[in-house]
Amino acid sequence: MSDILTTQADGILTITFNRPDKKNALTSAMYATLADALEAADTDPAVRVILFTGNGGAFTSGNDLQDFLNNPPQGDNTPVFRFLRAISTASKPMIAAVSGVAVGVGTTMLLHCDLVYAGESAKLSLPFVNLALVPEAASSLLLPAMVGHHRAAELLLLGEAFTPATAKDYGIVNAIYPDDKLLAEATAVAQKLATKPPTAMRLTKQLLKRTKGDVAGQMAQEGEHFRSQLKSAEAREAITAFFEKRPPKFS
Ligand code: COA
Repeated sequence: MSDILTTQADGILTITFNRPDKKNALTSAMYATLADALEAADTDPAVRVILFTGNGGAFTSGNDLQDFLNNPPQGDNTPVFRFLRAISTASKPMIAAVSGVAVGVGTTMLLHCDLVYAGESAKLSLPFVNLALVPEAASSLLLPAMVGHHRAAELLLLGEAFTPATAKDYGIVNAIYPDDKLLAEATAVAQKLATKPPTAMRLTKQLLKRTKGDVAGQMAQEGEHFRSQLKSAEAREAITAFFEKRPPKFS
């Protein structure tokens, strides 16, 4: 069974993170599959809306930390950057149905979605600093714009998990549903969007995104810091400590 599942029906492309034994952590190969699917969807008139979800009670635990150690991204054309570019430039509406953990990119990708629904079990977090890394996906630009500097600083500097209620209060999440109703509710919204006039939909999304600032520039700046931090001794210590199930020690 593939780690990324895609199904297409009635104008909806559903993309499911499917690596439940690792809480749907995203490997380089998974990012490549996601980028391919998103790039194809953007030019496929049969796709009107994209819906992201995760299997096994998790959305995604973010980038695979083993991959960070063994196969760190080197440049702007790596699968992870292709994925980030694709979600940040997608012209069609994107919906996320988030239950369980949504760590790192699992939360930052929500800032690029147009509608976000959370299950009661959702647990969001942005632990970049704790891993000696920096924010990605232009979250250092989009998050403060969405929630204000002080809240963004709290989420990004402390890196602690936050509840769907907080996410809804901050405007990151549209609505919260019981986990067993979440996918049906998100799919019902996707069905509504899929029947609307596609050009008006695309133009409206484009207009909404004009206010977001220099997303590509911020992503490039973040990427430079991210790659250099990934090579640092403090990041190696943080990631090794995770796998050794011990607190990291930064001297
Ligand atoms: N990369 C690689 N493996 C991961 C992973 C990740 N991002 N997240 C979880 N896993 C693995 C764990 O190592 C564990 O593997 P094992 O069964 O071989 O020991 C398995 O997935 C289950 O995770 P576990 O930690 O036991 O589940 P949990 O419910 O106690 O905690 C998380 C879930 C997501 C809170 C915790 O796994 C975690 O903090 N993961 C790291 C998240 C992260 O830092 N992501 C990068 C952000 S930039």
